[in-house]
Amino acid sequence: MAKFAIVPILASALYAFSLLSSSFVVAAPATGGEEEESYGVFGRTVNRKKLLGSKKEKLSHFRFYWHDVLSGMNPTSVMVVKPVNGSRTLFGQVNMIDNALTLDPDPSSKLVGHAQGFYAPTSQDLPLGMLMAMNFVFIEGKYNGSTITILGRNPVFNAVREMPVVGGSGLFRFARGYVQLRTHNFDPKTGDATVEYNAYVFHY
Ligand SMILES: *[C@@H]1O[C@H](CO)[C@@H](O)[C@H](O)[C@H]1NC(C)=O
Ligand SMILES: *[C@@H]1O[C@H](CO)[C@@H](O)[C@H](O)[C@H]1NC(C)=O
Repeated sequence: MAKFAIVPILASALYAFSLLSSSFVVAAPATGGEEEESYGVFGRTVNRKKLLGSKKEKLSHFRFYWHDVLSGMNPTSVMVVKPVNGSRTLFGQVNMIDNALTLDPDPSSKLVGHAQGFYAPTSQDLPLGMLMAMNFVFIEGKYNGSTITILGRNPVFNAVREMPVVGGSGLFRFARGYVQLRTHNFDPKTGDATVEYNAYVFHY
């Protein structure tokens, strides 16, 4: 008699286990190849091929010059917040920028895009360091309209500085990487600067 009572218990335990394990299969991406698409109200895992097609991640290098123009009738870099009184590191200053990006150091050379955003000195003591947050909006060729986003710390008096590329749009979806900066020239009287940027970006 006891023999018969065990059977339904075993069966329901097996059924519960199969429910559990199948829900695990749906929730976790399948390893080694295609991922499952599991639908939820808010979030879901996505089939990579359906979203990206046959695109493979590639590594690109771009070199251009960034022109920070504070002087003259048409500055592209404008102080919108003054530094705190007496700060020799300009702590607290904020400059909003829409700086030209050109192919060569000459500002009248080919325009490839703009750097839009702001920078702000964030070191209370020397050495001077800036928080930089900007989008590079490219206008050149197939990159027209695509952007990469830079967010980082710029110790402006170092020979070489580095900041992260934290993302992008258009051809730069899923972008990650870094930029290296070298000051090409700096006018201490006006504050105008031309900076060489080398960007190394993974994207699809
Ligand atoms: C700024 O600092 C100077 C001296 O360093 C002082 O004379 C002046 O009153 C200060 N201004 C303000 C608004 O605190
Ligand atoms: C970039 O795209 C805009 C429209 O999105 C167009 O007006 C402009 O001519 C394009 N520039 C280049 C250099 O292709």
